[in-house]
Amino acid sequence: MKLMKRHFWLVLLGLGLSGCGPATSFLTNPGSSITNHQSNLYLITLVMGAVIFLIVEGGIIIVITRFRRRKDDLAEPKQTHGNVPLEIIWTAIPVLLVITLFVFTVSTMNAIAAPQPSGSDVNVNVVGHQWWWEFSYPDLKITTADELVIPVGTPIQINLTSADVVHSFWVPQLAGKTDAVPGQPNKMWITADQPGTYEGQCSEFCGIEHALMRQKVIVLSQADFQAWVARQQQPAAAPQTDLETQGQKLVASGVCAACHTIDGTTAKGKIGPNLTHLYSRSTFAGAAFPLNDTNLTSWLRSNQSMKPGNLMAITVPEAQVAQIIAYLKTLK
Ligand code: CUA
Repeated sequence: MKLMKRHFWLVLLGLGLSGCGPATSFLTNPGSSITNHQSNLYLITLVMGAVIFLIVEGGIIIVITRFRRRKDDLAEPKQTHGNVPLEIIWTAIPVLLVITLFVFTVSTMNAIAAPQPSGSDVNVNVVGHQWWWEFSYPDLKITTADELVIPVGTPIQINLTSADVVHSFWVPQLAGKTDAVPGQPNKMWITADQPGTYEGQCSEFCGIEHALMRQKVIVLSQADFQAWVARQQQPAAAPQTDLETQGQKLVASGVCAACHTIDGTTAKGKIGPNLTHLYSRSTFAGAAFPLNDTNLTSWLRSNQSMKPGNLMAITVPEAQVAQIIAYLKTLK
C-alpha cells in the first residue's frame, strides 16, 4: 500500500494507458467512416480543451507568481466588480465555444446516421448470450458465432438483441457501442473501409465471464465474402473416416445436440453456438481462445478451468475426446 501511495501517479498513468489502448483505437486507427467522423470530433474537442486549459492554467500561474501579496503590501487590490467589458468577454467566449462544439457535434451526428436501408445492405441479427455472440444473416440463411464476417465498403444493418442479460456490442475501430437488451431490439449499423480483422469486446458487465465475451469482425473483399457465403450455406461435411463417423454419432445424438446445431445432422440445439462450420473460424468460446486442436481438446476435457462459470458445464468422457475432435475438425 505504501509503495502504491509513493508511486500513485505512476500507477494512475499505467492504469489509464492500459485501459485506454483498445478504447482509443478508434482515434489512432479508425476503420470506418463512422469512427473517422467520431475521431475528428474527438480531436477538435480535445484541442479546444487543451488550448483553454493552457490559457487558464497559464493565467493562474502568472497571477499567483507576479501578483501574490508582498510582505509589506497591505492595501486592497484594485477591484473590477461590475466591469462591463470583462463580463461581456467572459460570457461571449464560452458561448462561442459551445456553439462551435454544437455545430461540429450535429454535423457528426448527421454524417454517421444510419443510411436508408437499401437492397445491397447486409442484414445481420446479432444476439448476445452469456458469454458469446451469435450472428445470423436472415437473407442468406447463415448462422455463426464469435466472428462477424462482412464485406468491405457495404453498410451492415444490425438488429441487436440479447438472449439473457444486457450486453453491449462494441468494435471500437468500426463504431460506437450499442446495448443488446433482451426483448428490446436495438438498431445499429457499421461499415468497414479496409479488409482486415477488428477486435471487439462486450462492454456491459454481464456476469462472471464478461471479460471473455469478445468478438471479431472479419472484413473481406466482395469476392471473398461471396465465397464465404457459399461455403457457409452448405450443410455440414459428411464424416469420412471411422473416427469421424463415431465422433458425429456422439455429437449428433449425445448431449452436445441439446445445445448446438450442426446443419444436416440431428443436432438442432439453440442454446450454444452453431457448429456447422466451426473450423472456418479462428477462435471459439466467445472469441476467447484461438481455435486449434490443442485448445479444443482442453476445452472438451475441462472447459470450466479455461472459462470458469461458462454454461457448457459438461466434461466430455476421455474415451470420446479423440472421436469428437476428429469430427469437429471436418466442420470447415
Ligand atoms: Cu456480455 Cu459483458
